[in-house]
Amino acid sequence: MAADTAHPSGPSAPGRTSKLAIVGAGAVGSTLAFAALTRGSARSIALHDVNRAKVEAEVLDLRHGLMFTSPAHVTGSDDVAVCADADVVVVTAGAKQKPGQTRLDLAEGTIGLMRQILPGLVDVAPDAVYLMVTNPVDVVTYAALQISGLPRERLFGSGTVLDSSRLRAVLAERCGVAVGNVHAYIAGEHGDSEIALWSSASIGGVPLLDWVPLDGRAPLDAAVREEVHREVVDSAYRIIAGKGATNYAVGLAATRIIEAVLKDEGRIMPVSSLLDGYHGIGDVCLSVPSLVDRRGVTGTLPVPMSDDELAGLRASAASVRGVLQRFGF
Ligand code: LAC
Repeated sequence: MAADTAHPSGPSAPGRTSKLAIVGAGAVGSTLAFAALTRGSARSIALHDVNRAKVEAEVLDLRHGLMFTSPAHVTGSDDVAVCADADVVVVTAGAKQKPGQTRLDLAEGTIGLMRQILPGLVDVAPDAVYLMVTNPVDVVTYAALQISGLPRERLFGSGTVLDSSRLRAVLAERCGVAVGNVHAYIAGEHGDSEIALWSSASIGGVPLLDWVPLDGRAPLDAAVREEVHREVVDSAYRIIAGKGATNYAVGLAATRIIEAVLKDEGRIMPVSSLLDGYHGIGDVCLSVPSLVDRRGVTGTLPVPMSDDELAGLRASAASVRGVLQRFGF
């Protein structure tokens, strides 16, 4: 199908409307489109998938809900031209993690897919900020930077924004406080080697390591923190075993990142970017707290880390670098 021009997207007077292009209309991509539509993240949302019937159906289903959302143009096509002139391009296309598979197991297939799709995307949307969501997202982000030739700030991955959201949700429930009052990061690989930055975490301004339990709840001692970390690392496996894929939280996490770009928020988020001497770590994409604004990822924060956390981050870097080397990066 040629790009849908019935609802032209892109610049319109007065001023330019923001355009979000989502590559991949699977569970994650379609959930992301729905989240962006319901949150009013972008005025124009374009969905692209090689499966023409799927992308047309998703677009129709989204359009039929426009009466209930803020005004938006929703377009879609199996023609990559539908992504033209996007401000943000989100790549969700790729194989799904099967029960028992690690994210790193998906590397070979998704690197090949990136080689296929990125040149065409950069042709039609050369000035966009690119957000990689496809797993293994740290490997994919590094490979995509090499393949696309885009500047390092303009292509980054969703990283451990999702994992940090999981960590905060679990801590909030255990501590009996609102999620918004928990400040804690997961850093490193979005995967089995990710680490929790306990030493810089806080709840309502109280350092997490000094947290005094409310109304008889369990203290956040080392054993409980290890249990919480395990619960976060195993989350995706548990959800995939139950429903075949994860989509809601990752869709919301990616939408939040997109808004930080489109609204030029300067938001600090643990996205996956090319590190260059971060606590001595370089030439690998990993998640650390970083600044996200209209230019993409414009800086990393030197968050203080304990010796254990530093060792964990370095081990995570080695795990991702090892996979990259296997595929010639
Ligand atoms: C998850 C997928 C997005 O962690 O990797 O749910």
